[in-house]
Amino acid sequence: MATHPLDVVIMAAGKGTRMKSSLPKVLHRLGGRALLAHVMECAARLSARQAVVITGHGAMQVEAACAARTGAAAGLSLQFARQEPQLGTGHAVQQALPALLDDGITLVLSGDVPLTQAATLEALLAQCDGQRLALLTLTMADPTGYGRIVRAGAQASSQVRAIVEHKDAGEDERAIQEIYSGIMAVPTRLLRGWLARLDNKNAQNEYYLTDIVKFAVADGVAVVAHQITDGAQVAGVNSPVQLAELERVYQQRLAVGLMEQGVRLADPARLDVRGTLDCGPDVEIDVNCVFEGRVSLGEGVRIGANCVIAHAVIAAGAVIHPFTHIDGEALGVQVGEGALVGPFARLRPGAVLGAEVHIGNFVEVKNSTLAKGAKANHLAYLGDATVGERVNYGAGSITANYDGANKHRTVIEADVHVGSNCVLVAPLTIGAGGTVAGGSTLTKDAPAGALSVARGRQLTIENWARPVKKPKG
Ligand code: UD1
Ligand code: MG
Repeated sequence: MATHPLDVVIMAAGKGTRMKSSLPKVLHRLGGRALLAHVMECAARLSARQAVVITGHGAMQVEAACAARTGAAAGLSLQFARQEPQLGTGHAVQQALPALLDDGITLVLSGDVPLTQAATLEALLAQCDGQRLALLTLTMADPTGYGRIVRAGAQASSQVRAIVEHKDAGEDERAIQEIYSGIMAVPTRLLRGWLARLDNKNAQNEYYLTDIVKFAVADGVAVVAHQITDGAQVAGVNSPVQLAELERVYQQRLAVGLMEQGVRLADPARLDVRGTLDCGPDVEIDVNCVFEGRVSLGEGVRIGANCVIAHAVIAAGAVIHPFTHIDGEALGVQVGEGALVGPFARLRPGAVLGAEVHIGNFVEVKNSTLAKGAKANHLAYLGDATVGERVNYGAGSITANYDGANKHRTVIEADVHVGSNCVLVAPLTIGAGGTVAGGSTLTKDAPAGALSVARGRQLTIENWARPVKKPKG
C-alpha cells in the first residue's frame, strides 16, 4: 500500500440543540477533555498533515478552545473553516476544500464522536488507499435516524450503491440495518469533483455528504464499507444522557486498561480519570477516586477511598488515606517516597513533601516544602513554608503567611518541635533544633536549640471562690 498524505476534516458547526446548553456541543467534556479534543488527538495519532475544523455555531469559542490544545494534539497543524449558515454535511466539507490538497486522502470525522480509535481509522484509510471511497459502517438492531448502506444485492459483501438518509428512505430501505457511521475516507481529488455536483433536493433540503457515494458508483470508483461491531467508537453525543453514557464507556475502557497493566482497582466502575493517570507496578486504588490532569503514582502507592487527586506526582510506597484532596493546579504537588497523607488532608499547589513525611487529618499544605521525615499530623496550616527534616509541627498550628497585602515565608529548620496552637507570623525563621512552646504567637525569629515561649504566663489564684447563682425573688 502506498502511503498518502492525510488531511482530516472535523465537522463541528452544528448547534447541538438537544444539549440544552449555552456551551457549543463539541466543547462539552468527556474524561476531562472537550469532545473535540478527543477527535483532534485521534487525528494527531494518525499523523495527519493537518486538521481542518468546520465551525459555525459558537465558532469563536470553539476556535479559541482549539488554539489552547495540549497533550497528543499539541503538535497537530490546525485550520478553521467557517460554515455560515449550516446547509448540511456536504456543504460543511465544501467549506474545507480550499484548505485541502489533491495529493492526499481526506478523512471526515465529527467533533461530537469522541471514542473512535486510531487503529479503526488506520484500517479505513488502508481500504481507501488513495483510490477508493471507504465508508465506516456498523450493523445496528435499531438503525432509526441513520443513513442506510444500500447494496446491489442481498449479500453483506454486495457492492455498495448508495447511502440513503433515514428521512428519504422508503420502507425497504428503512429495513436495512447496516448504517453509515458518519466517518469516511476519500481521495481528495475525487472528493472535490463530487462535492461540486451535490444538490439539496431531498427531504431535509440539505447538501448531503452521503450523496457522493452515488457519484462514485456512477464514475466507476470502487466504494468499500469497512464494517465494525463496536458501536461506541462511532457513537455521537447529542444530549446529556448520551454524554454520560459515553463517559461511562470511556471510563470503563480506561479502567480495564489500567487493570491490564496490573493496577488493582477495588471497583472499576467507581474510578474517574479526567486526564492522564500513569501507574507503576502494584498500585492499589480504592473506590470513588477522581484523578484530574496529569497524575503519576509510583510503585506500590495506595490510594484510599474517596480521594480527589489532580496534577500530582506521588512517589513509590506513599499512602494516601481516604478523603484526601490534592490539587497541584499549575505548580503541581509532589509526595515523596513512603509518605503518609490523610485521611482528610488537603495538598494545594506547590506542596512538596519529602520521603516519609506524614500529613494527617485536616492539615492544609500550600506552596511549602517539607523535608524527609517531617510531620504535621493534625489540624494545621503550612503556607509558604520551608520545613526541615524531622520537624514535628503540632496540632492547630499555622503559618500566618499573609499580611493582607503580601505573602511571606516561614523557615522551620531541621529537628524543630512546634507545639500545639502556635501562630508563626511570617517572615520568620526558627533555628535548627528549636522548640516552640504550645500556644505561642511568634513574631520574631527563634534561635536554634532554644525554647521559645510567646504567650501569657500561667497565674494561680489560691482559694478562688466560684460565683454562685443568686436565689430567685
Ligand atoms: C449523518 C449522516 C448519516 C449518518 C449519521 C451518523 C449525512 C447527510 N448523513 O446524519 O448518514 O448515519 O450522520 O451519525 O451526512 N454538521 C455541520 N454542518 C452542517 C450539518 C452538520 O458541521 O451543516 C456537523 C454536525 O455538527 C455533526 C455532523 O456534521 O457533527 C453530522 O451532522 P448531523 O446533523 O448529526 O448528521 P445526521 O443527520 O446525524
Ligand atoms: Mg447526527
